[in-house]
Amino acid sequence: MTNKNEQAKEQPPVCDYEGSDYQSSFWDTGTRDYEDGVEAVALKRMLPDSGGELLLEVGAGAGRNTPRYEDFKRIVVMDYSVTQLEQAQERLGASDKYIYVAADVYRLHFVSGLFDSATMIRVLHHMSDAPASLKEIRRTQMPGALFILEYANKRNLKAIFRYLLKKQDWSPYTTEPIEFVDLNFNFHPKMIQNTLADIGYKLRKSLTVSHFRIGFLKRIFPTRFLVWLDSIFQFTAPIIKISPSIFTLSYADGDTPVAAKGSFFICPECKEDIEDTKENGVLTCSCGKKWEYKNGIFNFKQPIS
Ligand SMILES: C[S@@+](CC[C@H](N)C(=O)[O-])C[C@H]1O[C@@H](n2cnc3c(N)ncnc32)[C@H](O)[C@@H]1O
Repeated sequence: MTNKNEQAKEQPPVCDYEGSDYQSSFWDTGTRDYEDGVEAVALKRMLPDSGGELLLEVGAGAGRNTPRYEDFKRIVVMDYSVTQLEQAQERLGASDKYIYVAADVYRLHFVSGLFDSATMIRVLHHMSDAPASLKEIRRTQMPGALFILEYANKRNLKAIFRYLLKKQDWSPYTTEPIEFVDLNFNFHPKMIQNTLADIGYKLRKSLTVSHFRIGFLKRIFPTRFLVWLDSIFQFTAPIIKISPSIFTLSYADGDTPVAAKGSFFICPECKEDIEDTKENGVLTCSCGKKWEYKNGIFNFKQPIS
């Protein structure tokens, strides 16, 4: 029998957004225009002008960021929640450019070395085993592939002040993640940098983002001004990282596999390629496992048999 810790290691818990109104209640009210604006600036600074072939957007949610990847030929819009993907479909529309996949980032159903690009924005903070999720993304990327990762910074200015004023018992300086709410984690920049190096990424660039995510500043200053100010402060990353959010740009390093032409999905049970036949709304693996394809969404959350 496995104990609770061993089980958690095998299958880390998922912060489930199924049925969530995250997009409309968090982003569409207008109160987060500053955060959305500064993220757009950071992404633009990290994305290649020439785009790419195939991008994996991990935890895409309702597709808020997806239009920012328009220079890529194809985009896998991937999320654990089917309802988030349905919202993304409404936003992005039906097009061969988008491939919608419901799956758990800890168990990706893609062949190794498939993607030349990947992004993970506002998702790592839900990972109880961040290294395992990043390792699985790295597996799906070919050597030299680009990876843009956003993470919540534990060593942010507010946390430092709260700690010094004894209003917070955890230290922002220690490298282990802090779970401040159930399945919501902040990370120390050193821990993320070490993890990226350990699993085969070369860190090229960091940007500190969202320095002015403070209610009263957002109330008194126009959003455009704060976004402009943040866009200057983003370059302070090499000197000091005390913003609540950090963007990193890395490249897949090392002599790892490149996917064979035409292969795409694998079965996580037997690790064999699954043929993308979509017959009768079902993908069938040679091992007998079947996966649903319905209303344009590949559903790899659970096999249907
Ligand atoms: C805070 S939302 C961010 C959505 C989007 N990236 C954005 O910035 O607007 C986090 C997203 O991560 C997804 N997610 C959480 N855990 C996941 C997992 N284990 N595998 C795949 N997606 C996951 C959630 O379903 C949710 O859509």
